[in-house]
Amino acid sequence: MRALVLAGGLGTRFKSERPKVLHNLLGKPMVWYVVSTLRQAGITDIGVVISERTEEAKDVLGSGISYFLQKNPKGGTGDAVLSASGFWKDREDYLLVVNGDSPLIMAETVRNMQRFIHMVEEYENIKLSGVVLTTRLPDPTGYGRVIKEEGTDRILRIVEEREATPEERAVSEVNAGLYVFFIPHLLEVANKLKPSERTGEVYITEAVNLMASMGMEVRSFMATDPTEALGVNTRWDLSLAENVLRIRLIKHWSERGVTFHIPETVWLEPDVTLSEEVEIEPDVTLKGRTRIGRGAFIGRGSYIEDSEIGEGVKVLPYSVVIGAKVEEGAVIGPFSHIREGTTVGGSAEIGAFVEVKRSSVGRKVKAKHLAYIGDAEVGEGANIGAGAVTANYDGKKKHRTVIGKGAFIGSNSLLVAPLRVGEESYVAGGSVITKDVPDGALAVERAEIRVLEGKGRRKLRD
Ligand code: UD1
Ligand code: MG
Repeated sequence: MRALVLAGGLGTRFKSERPKVLHNLLGKPMVWYVVSTLRQAGITDIGVVISERTEEAKDVLGSGISYFLQKNPKGGTGDAVLSASGFWKDREDYLLVVNGDSPLIMAETVRNMQRFIHMVEEYENIKLSGVVLTTRLPDPTGYGRVIKEEGTDRILRIVEEREATPEERAVSEVNAGLYVFFIPHLLEVANKLKPSERTGEVYITEAVNLMASMGMEVRSFMATDPTEALGVNTRWDLSLAENVLRIRLIKHWSERGVTFHIPETVWLEPDVTLSEEVEIEPDVTLKGRTRIGRGAFIGRGSYIEDSEIGEGVKVLPYSVVIGAKVEEGAVIGPFSHIREGTTVGGSAEIGAFVEVKRSSVGRKVKAKHLAYIGDAEVGEGANIGAGAVTANYDGKKKHRTVIGKGAFIGSNSLLVAPLRVGEESYVAGGSVITKDVPDGALAVERAEIRVLEGKGRRKLRD
């Protein structure tokens, strides 16, 4: 079965310069969800209708998809399907059509709908001309109402809200915006589709209505979960849909052995992968291609993006990790900032107000308070004191600092790059180091201290 996604509309109700279907939910554009649902349902032959305004969809969805241009983005959903007739018209098969603003439809539902068609054909021995995904909503406002033959699943017509009579408006069964058509029958009605008198748009629902009026069989298929029907027409719809997607993701991982504390406060994106025994505290954000290893703990308020967190790592509260790798058993935070291009080795400890950028920090390194490590290589077991800073930038260029294994960098010392501080060397606190320090050496750079007896008290009493 081929599938056609309608993503050509302008989305005027969204009040945005950016086309509606390209707005993000959990960091991915709306139409991305529709395409990935189809792929999960095993459909590989996918076409997307775009208009000039929504051409960017090509960049976000990438290759392996056929694109069709709808010339008039106000032509309506029927016009959109006709614009892509090259994709479907020569086939003696079914065509799935789905709105690009229905990101909550589930792959399982698409599969069940396909099974439903085969079952009907096999047991009732009839050819279905169309199947429409529907659901009942407590408040059906804004949706097309599905009018059926009393006591059956046969659809007589779908009426748009604007064109419905008060009695039709009272119907709570709505069109979820997903259809399967038998192509030869769709072709029979295609050239009879007329624009709506009220809006001038050609509706795809009109194809359903024509089929039914010509005695063809169109059935409803009810969505298991009513949230699936949500069509995103406004920014508030987007917030609601995003929330449903987020909760589904959290549930998915919790069924795979992850604990979420106060899940309603956790932000989780679809490309994030979690492992068993991971524990996630409230207010955590996990974005992009983040991977979290078995048994890791992510403390309250932490923000992790495009990073790899190893087994048993503890990210203590309010830490930010972006584009970095933290290896097994390391402890980060509270309040650490681990930035792009950093690797923190196993069992290392990076503590409060420590920032690490584009550096490789060896195993068992300790940098527990108030330090900056930038463009550096820190050998295994080195100790970085409170307030130690690598001065990596001379105002024009960035330079590297190499700190040997087991070195001791005293508090408040400044390592001016380019610099090498040798293995098991010792930098005395408060020193400004501008020369390489050999292995095993002690470096101290300090004016000699003067202690003047009684002078302090005299100054205070003056
Ligand atoms: C549509 C249905 C309605 C259904 C609802 C479900 C029609 C006439 N109505 O209404 O019965 O209950 O979806 O959410 O189909 N699009 C194009 N080209 C266009 C117009 C729209 O590609 O010319 C695309 C849009 O980008 C969007 C989708 O089709 O992704 C649906 O269009 P929209 O205008 O949101 O239709 P609704 O009014 O929501
Ligand atoms: Mg819509």
